[in-house]
Amino acid sequence: VAPLKLGIAGLGTVGAEVVRVIARQQKTLAQRCGRGIEVTAVTARSKAKKRGLDLKGVVWAKSPLALANDPNVDCFVELMGGADEPALSAIEAALRAGKSVVTANKALIAKHGTKLAELAERQGAALNFEAAVCAAIPVIKTLREGLAGTDVNRIYGILNGTCNYILTRMEQEGLSFEACLKDAQRLGYAEANPSFDVDGHDTAQKLSILASLAFGTKVAEGAVSVEGISSITPEDLNAAQDLGYRVKLLGVAVRTKTGIEQRVHPTMVPRSSSIAQVMGVTNAVTVDGEGFSPITLVGPGAGAAATAASVVADIADAARGLRALPFGRPVAKLGTTKKAPMERH
Ligand code: HSE
Repeated sequence: VAPLKLGIAGLGTVGAEVVRVIARQQKTLAQRCGRGIEVTAVTARSKAKKRGLDLKGVVWAKSPLALANDPNVDCFVELMGGADEPALSAIEAALRAGKSVVTANKALIAKHGTKLAELAERQGAALNFEAAVCAAIPVIKTLREGLAGTDVNRIYGILNGTCNYILTRMEQEGLSFEACLKDAQRLGYAEANPSFDVDGHDTAQKLSILASLAFGTKVAEGAVSVEGISSITPEDLNAAQDLGYRVKLLGVAVRTKTGIEQRVHPTMVPRSSSIAQVMGVTNAVTVDGEGFSPITLVGPGAGAAATAASVVADIADAARGLRALPFGRPVAKLGTTKKAPMERH
């Protein structure tokens, strides 16, 4: 069988790590997929930048769009980021050409996911975005495939590594919000604009993607009520502790009589609950399904290696010709949202 030929757009922290993992895991991936996987062409903002990658024999495309349209590319891997152009047109071009697409771009999926899913479905092409939500945790696969036969009543969790890292260090070391945020940036957890993390928008984007898979809603970040953590002080965390609680930034999507409610806000959780034990850059997602007790997935929610792991898993699916429906058809209606600062867990 011919190898799967990748075109990778974006060679930042995640893109460079994906190239390294594919080189390192070449044999294992070929065994698991029944065919080889090779990096055929790439593109990035700067060709001259030193990345320490072996790109001998790899074509340098002049733009993301040219890469997506390259007839030698079977699978377009978008790791540039940015909710709109140039990523959007390049992904659309690849799907129109019937190529599989792998992306880690949660802002783009949260904004254009429903439209791209419809295009992928029409073209019979795969659109995989495991790395867009909770880095290494296979939560998209779990919802899309593992729980395909389940009615979900609620999905909630800690979906932003940067915020959980900040809250953990503020509580444990009494450090200021600003000092903790600086460290999260230095460690490569935060978004390019960290206000997306601390103001709750990153969590809202991930929640809207998860809700669309769990409930069959349209991906609609605008339907999420959002409050972040930037006004929280170490004193607030101490006060919560005195009452037997811990503060976590939660994303919650829940089925109600009026539709699916989606909200993101700092929440007091009992210190004895399992979600209160999730510390540092770790993420956790709990799914309450009909007829059985909740399922929780816990793992690294940010960082180059954790994100690259999910990108490569999606590439492996593309190599094996797997094509899951990106979201399924919208069936559930979005509801209005009330704030609920104490959540029962
Ligand atoms: N900035 C994000 C986080 C990265 O801290 O969770 C992963 O989406």
